[in-house]
Amino acid sequence: MKITIGSDHGGYELKLQIIEHLKERGIEINDAGCDSPASCDYPVYAKKVAAAIQNKEADLGILICGTGIGMSMAANKEEGIRAALCHDVFSAEATRSHNNANILCMGARVIGPGLAEMIVDTFIDTPFSNDERHIRRLSLFS
Ligand code: RB5
Repeated sequence: MKITIGSDHGGYELKLQIIEHLKERGIEINDAGCDSPASCDYPVYAKKVAAAIQNKEADLGILICGTGIGMSMAANKEEGIRAALCHDVFSAEATRSHNNANILCMGARVIGPGLAEMIVDTFIDTPFSNDERHIRRLSLFS
């Protein structure tokens, strides 16, 4: 399992914590930036993480900004990306199982670090169900 993670300044501190958490779990993680808490533009990092998924350099991506909203909007513009904004564990499990989401988005100003780690763990540990109805629904995306 390879993960690529990105953030803007609003998600920078939480991103560092999630990287440490995933390293402790022995998961290979690549940091696509940003590289400091200085103000920056979230679509730049949404595109970088989306490209890592598209190029198969990563199996799943994580994007963190202040709300998670801008990151999810930007990532979902990219071909083949199914980015899910999750601030609870139920949604993180459901979006992997039902939507085969390939990027998790979170807002560092919305949730605390403990919940964020639980959401990340749930997202990466839940496989796509491969149920026919979910495959059919995903095939209807334009
Ligand atoms: C940055 O201030 C903030 O707008 C950004 O982190 C994010 O919340 C955008 O959706």
